[in-house]
Order: sequence, then C-alpha cells, then structure tokens
Amino acid sequence: MAADQALHMNGGVGETSYANNSLIHKKVLVKEKPILEESVIRTYHNLAPQWLKVADLGCSSGPNTLFIVSEVIDAVHAACFELNCQPPDCQFFLNDLVGNDFNTIFKLLPDFYKKLEKGKGQKFGSCFIAGVPGSFYGRLFPSNSIHFFHSSFSQHWLSQVPKGLTSSVIPLNKGNIYVTETSTPAVMRAYMEQFQEDFKLFLRLRSEELVQEGGMVLTFIGRLETDELISPFDLIGMTLHDMVLEAIIEESKLVSFDLPFYTPTPEEGREIIDAEGSFTLQRIEVLKIGWDADINESEEENIVFDNKMRAKFIAN
Ligand SMILES: C[S@@+](CC[C@H](N)C(=O)[O-])C[C@H]1O[C@@H](n2cnc3c(N)ncnc32)[C@H](O)[C@@H]1O
Repeated sequence: MAADQALHMNGGVGETSYANNSLIHKKVLVKEKPILEESVIRTYHNLAPQWLKVADLGCSSGPNTLFIVSEVIDAVHAACFELNCQPPDCQFFLNDLVGNDFNTIFKLLPDFYKKLEKGKGQKFGSCFIAGVPGSFYGRLFPSNSIHFFHSSFSQHWLSQVPKGLTSSVIPLNKGNIYVTETSTPAVMRAYMEQFQEDFKLFLRLRSEELVQEGGMVLTFIGRLETDELISPFDLIGMTLHDMVLEAIIEESKLVSFDLPFYTPTPEEGREIIDAEGSFTLQRIEVLKIGWDADINESEEENIVFDNKMRAKFIAN
C-alpha cells in the first residue's frame, strides 16, 4: 500500500493516541517559537496583506495542532502592534494525510474560537480554520495563494520507501526496518536519495503555492554528522525480530518492511534548498531534545521519572 494511504498517527484521545503522546513534538514547537515569531513578523511586514492565509503541513490531531495556530496568531498580533495597524482576518489550512483524524481537531474548534475571542477581544480579526487532506508531496493549494507555510516534525517522512531498497530481488535492507549500524552504504544512499528527491519536490510545490515574499518555517528530525545512527527505530526493529521468532508475525512481512523515514544533517538540508533554488534560506538551527522529551526537566509536575517511567514514555 502507498505510504500516503497507510501512514497516520493514532487518532482519538486514548492512551496510545498521538494527542496523548506528543509532548516531545510540543517541546519542539515551544523551542521554535522565537524563530516562528521572527519569520511571521518579517513576512507580515513585507506583505501587509488584507487577510492572511497560513497552512500547517502535517498537522496531525491533538493539542499541538491548535497550539501552532495560536502561536502564529500571537506573532501576527505582535507584528500589527509594531505597525500600529488592525490585525487581519486569518485563514488557517490544516493539512495532513487522508488517514489523519481530522474529526478530533474539528470538535475542538468551537472552544478554540471562544478562547481566542476572549483572549484577543474585538481587536483581533476573524479566524477561519479548514482541513486539507492530502500529501504535501503533491499540490495542495492554488498558485500564489498562501502567505505563510509551517510544518513541524513531518518532513522526515518520505513519500515512499526508498526506491533503491525495493528494486533488487533480495531486499537490500533485509532484517532491518531503517538504517542501522549494520546497514551497508547502499542502504544509507538509497534513503538519502529518496529524501533529496522528496524534499526538492516539496520545495518546488510550496514555491508555486506561496505568494512572492511569503515565508516558511520547517522543523524536522535530523541528525548531526557525528551522531550515532541509533534511534528508537532500532529497538522497534529488534522487537519485531523477536515477534518473528515467537511466530507472532511472519518473517516475510518483516523482510519486506522498511520505514519511509530519513533524518538529514543540517548540511544535507542546506544543500538541497540551495540546489532547488526557489527559497532563500534565512536561518538554520539545531534544537537538541532527548527521546524522552527531557521529561525530568519538566517543572509542571513534581514527579521524578525513573528509567522504567522514561522507557514507558518512549515506548508509547
Ligand atoms: C509526528 S506528526 C507531527 C504533527 C504536528 N505537526 C506536531 O508538531 O505535533 C507528523 C505528521 O506528518 C504527517 N505526514 C507525514 N507525511 C505526510 C505527507 N506526505 N503529507 C502530509 N502529512 C504528512 C503524518 O501523518 C503526521 O500526522
């Protein structure tokens, strides 16, 4: 099945839902706030549009989805305060794949609109939120129609399993579900080439949809050249292996399964942006966050997380 039909985060609000397991992603949104603010304000100053059209790509479903809308609205407010002008009406397009649980987001909207009105009062223009199902590796909006794109924690998802992995008779990455320390250079190359192709396409499509002088902020999981390749996906691969040994899943299924996922280095990202040529890169930053979302640093609750609790958090 194609990745864009099969892939989605767990919907609803249950224990294993994305909504209840997206603290690490929330941390990213909080850390990127100054960058987002700077970029929205710059875009607003450049364009001073009558109304603002913003799209969040890979919005998923949960508290983060509307948190990002609030962040953008705050930044627009700040820009208008500086310019001493009336904030514009804003239209937000929330995009994700067709399997995304859009209904859970839509149910949150009445309360969200009320909270917004209470917080911002009459001074703020109206806010309209719409869902846009479809892959960001295809066109999603009319040409020259969007002022600002945001996408967080999504671009590391590829459009498909790397072509190079599936073209040979013996699967190139047999026994693994992602790049591991034992993977051959050909596996790494196949992943990198798929990312290059996908990210270039993504940039070209967004440049067609963005108005001139529009802005974009993207965050995605990356790695530093010096990082070990070990990730939670190694552990998931090992667990699936054990499940094959226990006859819980068929070996052929594990052999043919590879994650459509790649974590580029900042340099790889920069090279693709330069080579594609539609965008001028203003800022690239590395934000470091542990896989346990650094929960021990959390000041919200007075809980000390021991190793077992951290492991459960990461597993969820
Ligand atoms: C980890 S979630 C991030 C959600 C949210 N942006 C956040 O920061 O909490 C990644 C999202 O990207 C979406 N995604 C992956 N590939 C996509 C594609 N080709 N087009 C649109 N969305 C995609 C997934 O369905 C998922 O909801």
